[in-house]
Amino acid sequence: MYGMVNKAFKDMVVMHHGESGWEQIKAKAGVDMDVFMSNESYSDDITYNLIGAASEVLKVPAEQILIGFGEHWVMHTASEGYGGLMKAAGKALPEFMRNLPNFHSRVTLVFPKLQPPHFRCTDITDRSLNLPYYSHRRGLAPFVVGLMQGLGKNVKTPVVVRQVAVKDQGGDHDVFGVAWNPNPA
Ligand code: HEM
Repeated sequence: MYGMVNKAFKDMVVMHHGESGWEQIKAKAGVDMDVFMSNESYSDDITYNLIGAASEVLKVPAEQILIGFGEHWVMHTASEGYGGLMKAAGKALPEFMRNLPNFHSRVTLVFPKLQPPHFRCTDITDRSLNLPYYSHRRGLAPFVVGLMQGLGKNVKTPVVVRQVAVKDQGGDHDVFGVAWNPNPA
């Protein structure tokens, strides 16, 4: 994955657990890098090792770490670092959600080696949709849950996400049911 992912993970850890927390997680992960170049590619193993190490050091299930990282990604990394791309995808949640299937094609223009996830939108109503999620990577479904929750928090629209189909149980993709209040205050 591009270095921006590991960099964002480090930023999240330092934000909540300080430099000492990061040093412990980095050591446990066997990662000897401290600076990640946003636009360089790194092995996915580094990211997975960091997540696993954070789970061990902080004594929090990896799923919970991934949910938190998804929220951090949209609320900090994407909004602060790539605000233009985020704004172009839509102001209100329903519009943003419907644009998700095309979102990473814009990102690919800037980061050509991206191996992005793929999303579809089905069963669309004014307050919900189903989001099939395809990835060649394993175990990132909780990250998607966090991303959806973070998107809702960004626009102060409470979002309820539940996984309605699980890739590990035989299919080739996960599906999330995403619902929101159509008239947020
Ligand atoms: C401007 C904002 C964003 C940027 C720059 C961005 C960029 C990236 C990058 C660099 C990766 C790692 C993959 C690779 O390097 O090959 C990634 C993965 C991913 N992104 Fe985005 N992304 C953004 C916003 C979003 C949003 C809004 C969502 C969904 C709500 C999303 C969903 C994901 C998921 C689920 C992955 C994990 C990879 C996988 O499933 O295989 N991203 N993105």
